[in-house]
Amino acid sequence: MLDNLFLQEEHKLIRDTARKFAQTRIVPEASELDKNHRFPKEIISEMGKLGLMGVAIPQEFGGAGMDVLSYYLALEEISVACASTGVIMSVNNSLSCDPILKFGTDAQKKEFLVPMASGKVLGCFCLTEPQAGSDPAGMKTTAVREKDYYILNGTKNFITNGAEARFAITFAITDKAKGHKGITAFVVDTKSTGFRVGKLEEKLGIRASSTAEIHFQNCRVPVSQRLGEEGDGFKIAMMTLDSGRIGIAAQAIGISRAAYERAVSYAKEREQFGSPIAQFQAIQFMIADMATKIDAARLLAVRAAMKKDRKERFSKEAAMAKLFASETAMWVTSKAIQIHGGYGYCNEYQVERHYRDAKITEIYEGTSEIQRLVIASHELKE
Ligand code: CAA
Repeated sequence: MLDNLFLQEEHKLIRDTARKFAQTRIVPEASELDKNHRFPKEIISEMGKLGLMGVAIPQEFGGAGMDVLSYYLALEEISVACASTGVIMSVNNSLSCDPILKFGTDAQKKEFLVPMASGKVLGCFCLTEPQAGSDPAGMKTTAVREKDYYILNGTKNFITNGAEARFAITFAITDKAKGHKGITAFVVDTKSTGFRVGKLEEKLGIRASSTAEIHFQNCRVPVSQRLGEEGDGFKIAMMTLDSGRIGIAAQAIGISRAAYERAVSYAKEREQFGSPIAQFQAIQFMIADMATKIDAARLLAVRAAMKKDRKERFSKEAAMAKLFASETAMWVTSKAIQIHGGYGYCNEYQVERHYRDAKITEIYEGTSEIQRLVIASHELKE
C-alpha cells in the first residue's frame, strides 16, 4: 500500500527482510511462545544479527543505520508474527537506544548503546511506579548524590524487558522541591548491587514478553551514568515516549494485520448457507472497514515516522498514530473473532491471541486518554 507513495528501495529491502524472518522464523513458534509465556531469547538474538534491535541507530553505534520509517516498517512485520516479540523490539529500539543516542555522552554511547543497538544485550525503561502511571511526575524513586555516585531507592513496575535487560534507563527524583524539573535520568547497569528484579506479572496478552517489578535498594550508580543534566529527566522521558508511541502504533498495526489476514482467508474458506461467507455483505462490510482502518492507522504512523526523520516535532502525530492504531487493533481483532464465530473464540485459529495482545496497546506508553490529552493540548495551542 505504501510502495509507490513513500518507499525507497532500502525501505522495501528492510521490510521484506523483516517479513521473511517474521513469517519463517517467528510465526511457527508464536502460538507456543504465548501459551508457555516463553521469552523468545534465540529469536531476539537472531534479530540482533539482522540489525532489528537498533534499526535507526547509526552503524558507528552498533545499529543498522537506517531511518525511522525503516524501523516502523520492520516493527510492523515482526508484530504481525508475534506481538510479544514486537514489544521487546520496540522497547529496545525506542525506549532504550533512542534516549542514549539523543542525550548520551560519547562514552555512554560506546559503553551502553553499542551493545544494545547491536542486539547483544537488551534495554528497559524504568519510569512507571506503583503509584505513578499516567502521572510519572508523581514518582517516588529517589537518587541522592554521594561524591561520584548517586544512590537510588524506590520501586518501578510494569517494566517490559525488566527481567532480561542488561541496562535500564531509569528516572528518579534528585530534587523533590522542583517537581517535574527535579527528575533526573540514568543508565543503570542491572548487574549493579541494589538492582533487583521482583514480581513478574501474569498477563492477558503479550505473554512471551516479561513485565517486571524492579527494586532499587541503595543502588549505586556512577555520576558518569547520568543521562543529561540533573533535572532533565522528565523531558527526556517525554521525548523518548514520543518515539516509543510510533513503535506501539507499529505493533498495534501489526496485530491488526495478523487478525485481518486470518479473517479474510477464513471468510473465503468457510461455507454457510451454500457459499463462502466472504460472499455475504455482512462479512464484506466488516472486511472493508477493517482494511480501511488499518490503512488509515498506517498512514498516521508513517507520517509520524517521516516527521521524526525530518527532525520536525512529532509529539502530536505520534500520539494520534498510537491512539488510532491501538483502538483499531481492538476493533479489528474483535471483528476477526466475529468472522471466525465459535472457532475464533478458541485458540486453534489464533485470532484470540491477537485480541488479547491488542488490549495492551491502548494502555502502555500512555493510555488512549493520555494520547487524547496530548493531542488536545497541541490542537488548542496551534
Ligand atoms: N517533549 C518535550 N517536552 C515535553 C513533552 C514532550 N513530548 N511533553 C511535555 N513536555 C514538557 C513540557 O513542555 C513542560 O515543560 P516546562 O516545565 O519547561 O514548561 C514539562 O514537560 C511538563 O509538561 P506537562 O505540564 O504537560 O506535564 P504533565 O505532568 O502534566 O504530564 C502528560 C503530561 C502528557 C500527562 C505526561 O505525564 C504523560 O505522557 N503521561 C503518560 C506517561 C506514559 O506514557 N507512561 C508510559 C510508561 S512507559 C511504558 O509503558 C514502558 C513499557 O515498558 C512498554
